[in-house]
Amino acid sequence: MGSPRRWGERIGCALSGRAGTGEVTRDRFVACAGGQEQGMQTRELGALRVPALGLGCMGMSEFYGTADEAEAERTIQRALDLGVTFLDTADMYGPFTNERLVGRAIAGRRDEVVLATKFGNERGEDGSRIGINGRPDYVRRACDASLQRLGIDVIDLYYQHRVDTTVPVEETWGALRELVEAGKIRFAGISEAAPETIRRAHAVQPVTAVQTEYSLWTRDPEDDGVLATCAELGIGFVAYSPIGRGFLSGQIRSVDDLAPDDFRRHNPRFQGEAFARNLELVDRVREIAEEKGVTASQLALAWVMAQGGREGNPAVVPIPGTKRVAYLEENTAAADVELTGDDLRRLDEAAPRGAAAGDRYPDMSSVHR
Ligand SMILES: NC(=O)c1ccc[n+]([C@@H]2O[C@H](COP(=O)([O-])OP(=O)(O)OC[C@H]3O[C@@H](n4cnc5c(N)ncnc54)[C@H](OP(=O)(O)O)[C@@H]3O)[C@@H](O)[C@H]2O)c1
Repeated sequence: MGSPRRWGERIGCALSGRAGTGEVTRDRFVACAGGQEQGMQTRELGALRVPALGLGCMGMSEFYGTADEAEAERTIQRALDLGVTFLDTADMYGPFTNERLVGRAIAGRRDEVVLATKFGNERGEDGSRIGINGRPDYVRRACDASLQRLGIDVIDLYYQHRVDTTVPVEETWGALRELVEAGKIRFAGISEAAPETIRRAHAVQPVTAVQTEYSLWTRDPEDDGVLATCAELGIGFVAYSPIGRGFLSGQIRSVDDLAPDDFRRHNPRFQGEAFARNLELVDRVREIAEEKGVTASQLALAWVMAQGGREGNPAVVPIPGTKRVAYLEENTAAADVELTGDDLRRLDEAAPRGAAAGDRYPDMSSVHR
């Protein structure tokens, strides 16, 4: 396995921090980056400019085992130092605790951040799942509650997390348009929506970004018309779970590597026969990563980033999730991994469309296609 690329390598300058740690102060970082906006490339999601990759904060509060809150906060602050200023959370992560954590971590640095959160997967304070809710009165209440938990007065990108099939999307998006007009949100997005629904929402209020699972083992948006619809309408695409919920790192070798309460234990792709078949896919990706001297996670992220603009695609921005500074640094360096046409061809062969075994959720009914 090649050693992970460090931040200092990608900007090609000597660092004065502790040798081999990738640590560098912000001033030094800006200087090294030649005065560019923190050295990070940017992409345009509709009219919203964001770094080429963001940080998913979900796992800091729920789903992927227990988190160390202090390390999680350090991870968010380190992300800002590195120019990874596009943060992704949702009211349902925790529930509610993830927004509070993000709010604490960015306090005093609000202006550096493009903050994305989501509504629509309604949950109770006790963690119970109430259901998908797209009713306008709920959208307004959910927004006020998120603003309060985050400790901010405007949300940069507010996503409808799941489509409520009992409410016309025009009604939900009418409420989002009013939130824009009221100055409570700057831009609106939608997650896991069918092309026709994206189109209908866009007619009410411009959709800035569609967020959907996309990675070397989840290539559905290439086939179901979502990427094409985004490209046609000038909408950006945000790829969630770009490391395949950690599987594409190659470090999860058995379901026993996961904590007893880890959500992935119930994910079909992590079960028995499917797990074994998916390991073969990951090992093919790892082999290519080794040859390139990068980690499998870095290669998986570089592949997602390389899809932006490829074959008429829209801008594609991955939001890898981690609760650890070390993984954040490793993932950030992926922004500088260059893939040749030959690399892309080999990766397409190693992980062709439809190659992953198992559905991506235990219950696919909330994935709206
Ligand atoms: N819209 C939606 O419905 C939806 C659904 C899921 C996720 N999301 C968003 O997308 C974000 C990212 O997705 P995700 O967190 O599900 O999946 P991901 O980014 O594909 O993978 C996260 C997992 O990979 C591990 N990991 C990260 N970097 C690694 C590295 N360099 N080496 C080894 N392991 C590494 C993390 O470990 P640690 O946890 O130990 O750091 C975590 O378990 C979430 O945080 C959330 O904000 C949105």
